[in-house]
Amino acid sequence: MFADRVLSGMRPTGSLHLGHYHGVLKNWVKMQHEMECLFFVADWHALTTHYDTPQVIEQSVWDMVVDWLAAGVDPAHATLFIQSRVPEHAELHLLLSMITPLGWLERMPTYKDQQEKLSGKDLSTYGFLGYPLLQSADILIYRATQVPVGEDQVPHIEFTREIARRFNHIYGREAGFEEKAEAAVKKLGGKKAKLYAELRVRYQEQGDDEALEAAKALLDEQHSLSHGDRERLFGYLEGGGKMILSEPQAMLTAASKMPGLDGQKMSKSYNNTISLREDEASVTRKIRTMPTDPARIRRTDVGDPDKCPVWQLHQVYSNEATKAWAMQGCKSAGIGCIECKQPVIEAVLDEQCPMRERAQLYLDDPTLVRNIIADGCEKARALARDTMRDVREAMGLSYS
Ligand code: TRP
Ligand code: SF4
Repeated sequence: MFADRVLSGMRPTGSLHLGHYHGVLKNWVKMQHEMECLFFVADWHALTTHYDTPQVIEQSVWDMVVDWLAAGVDPAHATLFIQSRVPEHAELHLLLSMITPLGWLERMPTYKDQQEKLSGKDLSTYGFLGYPLLQSADILIYRATQVPVGEDQVPHIEFTREIARRFNHIYGREAGFEEKAEAAVKKLGGKKAKLYAELRVRYQEQGDDEALEAAKALLDEQHSLSHGDRERLFGYLEGGGKMILSEPQAMLTAASKMPGLDGQKMSKSYNNTISLREDEASVTRKIRTMPTDPARIRRTDVGDPDKCPVWQLHQVYSNEATKAWAMQGCKSAGIGCIECKQPVIEAVLDEQCPMRERAQLYLDDPTLVRNIIADGCEKARALARDTMRDVREAMGLSYS
């Protein structure tokens, strides 16, 4: 078992390209071996901006999952699911909305930014304002400890932490907390109960941080405790109430430096992408027709790689020897641009080859993907239900 749980989601609003691969998916593939990972299709989030074009979302959902699998995300190591298939996310979103100050949402930098960026669309909706809260529900419902995101999403994680804190503050003070905590201490058993009590006193009376750490380590080892009791004992240690929702950490993924076909960052909105599983002929044609140093008009003109988008692709795809060859050949007009592009074309095709192969397996038998997702949804739902039980109880909704 891993101590950390990673959660990340992606909005299905179009097909994935090599920028997503280098910026996000390679990282997911690596993490799936190091931590417990949950990756999901954020279809409800896509609807907040694409509410008038749901066909786009419907189209992209399965393609996106195939892209993930093609990139090497492995269902044996990571849980893959679709947000809307775990309706508990919506329930938590609703319940959290009760305690979410409007101002927190209105002040989110992404709120104004996106409205300006997508100015052709009316985003003064309730759903769009609540986007970060829905994201908080996604994260908190799995008690995720780590959330890999790009820089633009960091305020959403900070917001999530504030929501968790606010929730614990309001609902963590259950009636009879002390008595329940004391009862939970007893359940630890004689020796451990005594040790816990001693460490707690040492921390609370003398501020001994080592005692706090030792007590936390002791609790970490108690696998037979119920979740409620665990959280009570953690809360009791530090003198607060019960910690029902836990605060996640943002795991900053370096901004994708993947250049597009025109030298700007690769992005659908710049129309400069190579899609993840684009066919070979099209990849070749796109790179062959890429612009180069505009001053290099004739084959005999010398060029300057620093003014050429192809050179940027060499930075991603070529080894030192190839880069030296291109640099030297360009500056001396020793090679032509088509020649210079050839190693890049080959490297991109090589990178995509295993992806195309893996994808083919799933394209040939679409039930494979359906089953992977059905399986992932079931696993995710079991975790989500657990949290919702505690949340409902804390909010006084578990009538019997
Ligand atoms: N907002 C994220 C994005 O645009 C997608 C997302 C939705 C997400 N829910 C999440 C990411 C939960 C991480 C965790 O990229
Ligand atoms: Fe660009 Fe290469 Fe042509 Fe130089 S030789 S301009 S680096 S494509």
